[in-house]
Formats: sequence, structure tokens, C-alpha cells
Amino acid sequence: MKQEVIVADNLVKKYVTKKRKGLLRGEKQVVEALRGVSFKIHRGEIVGLLGPNGAGKTTTVKIISTLLIPDSGDAWVMGHHVVREAKRVREKIGIMLTVEKGFYNKLTGRENLEYFAALYGLSGDERRRRVEYLLKLVGLEELGSSDRLFEEYSLGMKARLGFARALLRDPPVLLLDEPTLGLDPPSSRRIRELVKKLAHEEGKTILYTTHNMFEAEIVCDRILLINKGRIVAEGTPEELKNMIPRLKTINIVVKGDQRVGELIKGMGIEKYEAKPIDGLLSIRINIQKPEEILDPLIKKIVGNGYEIVSLKIEEPTLEDVFIYFAEKTSR
Ligand SMILES: Nc1ncnc2c1ncn2[C@@H]1O[C@H](COP(=O)(O)OP(=O)(O)OP(=O)(O)O)[C@@H](O)[C@H]1O
Ligand SMILES: [Mg+2]
Repeated sequence: MKQEVIVADNLVKKYVTKKRKGLLRGEKQVVEALRGVSFKIHRGEIVGLLGPNGAGKTTTVKIISTLLIPDSGDAWVMGHHVVREAKRVREKIGIMLTVEKGFYNKLTGRENLEYFAALYGLSGDERRRRVEYLLKLVGLEELGSSDRLFEEYSLGMKARLGFARALLRDPPVLLLDEPTLGLDPPSSRRIRELVKKLAHEEGKTILYTTHNMFEAEIVCDRILLINKGRIVAEGTPEELKNMIPRLKTINIVVKGDQRVGELIKGMGIEKYEAKPIDGLLSIRINIQKPEEILDPLIKKIVGNGYEIVSLKIEEPTLEDVFIYFAEKTSR
């Protein structure tokens, strides 16, 4: 049986804040950040928590990592309760938050890691070896940045150092809150590749938040779609795409004008868009089974003397899934 490593059961979290009304007066305001979030993550799995700004991703990560106590509901990491056994949970996890806090500006990257390693109880040779290994792993060594002051670090370097710190104790569980936010493509790729390697080769269990669909699709084994404090859908990227009734798209570019559109309408195809671009006409047809009309469509266009410049069939993307469920939940 697959081992359940992270379990969240009906997590609820409200934030109470003051809404400013003039300089001194305030009105109590309650934000329901989580409205009953449940999920399970198995050993060696990378699960993406994918959702728009304010969906509740960071709140979830903070609860799982014991930084925040839920109003109700429970969560466990490797069988330890995040509130009642917070200390045990912290021993099992490595965490990386979007805003990297706690590094010392006047220390180098290496010294910062040494410091946290000491705090975690690593000493002597073991500590040096671990720090050395991690600086290489995240590519700081290769950038020549291990011995530069933290205050001179770029965003990408800081993220790499944050990632290295999360791995100091070689934890079986990693909680990564938008680890590639603001990074350039090489830095993002580096982190994504490491995440995959750590999960799939070393069996680490990873909760990975992002609002980037492209990233969720290439990194995650499974995705939890979160919106307004609720998980609105879950599955592999493939499964999610199959969940929505959205049709496939035939994208066809023709040397011609709106008359081609009329031809298509004449075939009984109702859902299409035709846009002129540089003397060409770009037509998009939404349809369940493109293969059924492709042949008559091409014959019709070519038979009427028009030339087809390009033709593509597009599958629904994760973005379509995202939009579909976002609209559905806001209704
Ligand atoms: N400390 C806080 N005080 C008051 N409200 C908060 C606090 N932290 C978060 N919230 C609110 O809770 C909701 C969920 O926030 P959260 O940070 O979990 O979202 P998120 O999915 O991580 O968003 P983002 O993609 O912007 O990071 C939002 O409406 C947010 O404004
Ligand atoms: Mg967040």
C-alpha cells in the first residue's frame, strides 16, 4: 500500500483583521483563507497546490509546517500531528517560503548554511560535507557565489540558498512555497529538476505550491486545484484536462477572407472564430472530435480554391482547467 506521508483533514483557517475606516477607526473583517481543505500525499510524490493569488496556498503550507495553527481540522506529517506534535513534525520537514527570511546579510552563503547546520545540530566534518554538497547541488558553487555575502545575492541565488537550507537535515518531506517565483529560466529549471530528482530517486515527499500552470504540469505528479480556500479539483494533469467539458480546438490558417468563414458555417459548424491577420484568415473551431470533420473541412476549403497555410489541433491546457474551475467555484 502507498504510504501516506502528509494528510490534511478539513483544515479551516480564518484571519481576523481590521478594515481601516479613517485614521483611527477600524471595522473587524474576517477573511476565510481555508474553508475545509483535505488531501493526502504519498511517499515519493510531488503534489502541486495550484491556485490564483489569495487561494490559500501559503496558509496551507504554513499549517502543515507548524508555523500556523488551524482554527479547526487536523493535519499529520509522517503520522505526527502538526499541532500536538509540532516538534516531531519539524524534524521531518524542510521548508522554503517565497520570501526568504532569516539569512544574514553580512555572512556569505556558505557561512549562512554553516550557521543553520549548526543550529540543526550538525557538527564537524559532517556539517562541512553537507554544506559543500548542497552548495554544489543547487549550483551556487558553479555560479561562484558560495563565498559572496548574502546581501550581494540576486533573487535566484537567494532562492537556491533557501532551497539548500531546506535540505540541510536531509528531510524526508519538503514543503516548497512557490520556490521558482521571480527566477530566470535556468534557475527555475535547476530547482524543478532537483525537486523531481529528490522525489523520484530519493523518495522524498513534496508539497509544491505554484500559480504557474506550465510549471505544475511539468513538475507535479498530481495537482490539487485550490480556489478561495477550497480544493476544487484534483488529479494528474491529464486527468484534470479530461474533467472539463471543453472541446478541442482546430486552428487553421487560410489564404483568404471572411468568405472562408461562411463556408465553414455552411458545413453546420457553429462554434468558430475567424480573425484576419496580415491578409490571412485565422480560424479556430471548438469541437469534441476534430477527426470527424477534418477531412470534409479541408476538402471544402481547398475545393473552393483557398490555400491552407497551417493546421493544428490543440488539446485543452491546464489553463483551461484552471479557468473552468475558477468560474465554476465563483458561481
Ligand atoms: N496574516 C494575514 N492576515 C490577514 N489575512 C491574511 C493573512 N495571510 C493571508 N491572508 C488572506 O488569506 C487568504 C489566503 O492567503 P494565502 O497567502 O494563503 O494565499 P496564496 O494562495 O498563498 O496566495 P499567493 O498566490 O498570492 O501567494 C487571502 O485572502 C489573504 O489575503
Ligand atoms: Mg502564497
